[in-house]
Amino acid sequence: MQKVKILKLSPEDAQLLQKCAELEKICIPEEAWSLESFRSEAGKPSGFVLAALEENRKLAGFLTASCILDTADLTNIAVAPEYRRRGIAGLLLKKLCAEIGKVSLFLEVRESNLPARSFYQKHGFEQVGIRKNFYQHPDENAILMKLESE
Ligand SMILES: CC(C)(COP(=O)(O)OP(=O)(O)OC[C@H]1O[C@@H](n2cnc3c(N)ncnc32)[C@H](O)[C@@H]1OP(=O)(O)O)[C@@H](O)C(=O)NCCC(=O)NCCS
Repeated sequence: MQKVKILKLSPEDAQLLQKCAELEKICIPEEAWSLESFRSEAGKPSGFVLAALEENRKLAGFLTASCILDTADLTNIAVAPEYRRRGIAGLLLKKLCAEIGKVSLFLEVRESNLPARSFYQKHGFEQVGIRKNFYQHPDENAILMKLESE
């Protein structure tokens, strides 16, 4: 894998936040956040927008999360199709865990999203529930997963 750097973005990182919003439209069009949502998350004390950058500063992937006290939510993770299966999502998750420390980390994932579910399982997440018809377009259950981060 080429050298990839993980950066925590702030609201001032306007171009990279824009790239995150564009990448999400490609990777998760059904649940894509607006640029304003990325900027707002990056500006919250509890918020995280982590970007995976190649040496030429091209955006390979990103992750968003929020953490309050001992509970965190992983709200988005996406890697550009041409960078997948190279460990980049794993690097983003590792960086998040280093930032948030020992907390319960939750997420929801579409039942049919087997690549993402496999990724989460590989990194120690366990299924802790199902939210019936949580998603729309198309209607689908969410699998609720949890990781006790170290
Ligand atoms: C899920 C996603 C973020 C994984 O990113 P990634 O950088 O390819 O993941 P990594 O290389 O760090 O991890 C790879 C592991 O993820 C799982 N995985 C990733 N793609 C997979 C696929 N197409 N089929 C099966 N397992 C897959 C496997 O466990 C794999 O481990 P392996 O290579 O040893 O088999 C990426 O596929 C993606 O952006 N998907 C679209 C957006 C999305 O669905 N996000 C999650 C919303 S809840």
